[in-house]
Amino acid sequence: MKPIQAAITGVQGYVPEYVLSNAELEKMVDTTDEWITSRTGIKERRLLKGEGLGASYMGIQAAKGLLEKTQTDAKEIDMLICATATPDMVFPATANLIAQGIGCTADCLSYDIMAACSGFLFALTTASKFIETGVFKKIIVVGTDKMSSIIDYTDRQTCVIFGDGAGAVLLEANTEGNGLIDHILRSDGAGSEFLYMKAGGSRYPASTQTVANKEHYVTQHGSVVFKHAVKNMADTSYELVQRNGLSADEIAYLVPHQANLRIIDATAERLGLNPNKVLINIQRYGNTTNGTIPLCLWDFESQFKKGDNLVLAAFGGGFTWGAAYLKWAY
Ligand code: UT7
Repeated sequence: MKPIQAAITGVQGYVPEYVLSNAELEKMVDTTDEWITSRTGIKERRLLKGEGLGASYMGIQAAKGLLEKTQTDAKEIDMLICATATPDMVFPATANLIAQGIGCTADCLSYDIMAACSGFLFALTTASKFIETGVFKKIIVVGTDKMSSIIDYTDRQTCVIFGDGAGAVLLEANTEGNGLIDHILRSDGAGSEFLYMKAGGSRYPASTQTVANKEHYVTQHGSVVFKHAVKNMADTSYELVQRNGLSADEIAYLVPHQANLRIIDATAERLGLNPNKVLINIQRYGNTTNGTIPLCLWDFESQFKKGDNLVLAAFGGGFTWGAAYLKWAY
């Protein structure tokens, strides 16, 4: 019997309508379009506006669209994992809200994974294990973040980078040799002091003091994170490609987390890839944290052919990072 692999059989994204351009940011903080473009590659990002709308709202839009597109009944979904750094609430899990929002039954196991910007990659590989063992047949993996809810729009170091968005993929069993082939995932809490949101958890619960100190916003030591991201994303992708005996020619596309164009370029260079094999949409959405990889798959889906070798790579707070090698299934 051929081994079961977990294959992506559909992908859908959702980005909010509101566009925050570099020109608009120039009016908000001491920055320029030239600085943002040359240092990050970002031209604009989307922001979710509207009272009471959180990460689940975007996740529901993406997952609903995915069901329609793949002609799947919500009742067939065995599991839904949501990767997010900006859950609607600390609990219940945002995955529970998304599963309910798209009409899944209580038989659908749903929970969140938090691994900052690497969350989608971690969730995808976790979900794959449930497919590979034959436990579940159809799983939705959602990556969704409303980064605008935790960004200080007076802090030029972070507000120019992040945006809101969501993406969702359907995973199903494949016995043709397509699907997730291999992955390397890593995490190191030593990085926790360089990228974090200090308050609002159990260590520093929300108080007037934490609000006054702006501790409910992202704090990032950009250049430290940058150095680790460049090294670790490139090293891990290279290690994965090497151990699977993949030459640069055999890689169809690199699907990187979109945090900074310079980090993406470093990984592509390490793998010896031509620029046309590197999928980039950071200029339109910025860093949507858990949304980046599924949004990239969604934007470039029409280019993929069955059997294409894709390398997915991410780096994020924690630190967390990793790479996954999969063969496209349709
Ligand atoms: O996705 C999860 C993980 N996150 C990442 O991977 C992000 C990693 N980090 C980065 O992408 C980059 O470090 C940033 C884009 C955040 C910053 O770029 P950088 O090239 O590392 O800049 P820097 O922090 O070293 O700052 C260089 C200069 C500083 O000015 P001085 O001290 O040289 O006078 C900053 O104050 O750029 C200044 N600066 C800005 N200038 C204009 C910082 N932000 C801005 C800005 N506009 N928005």
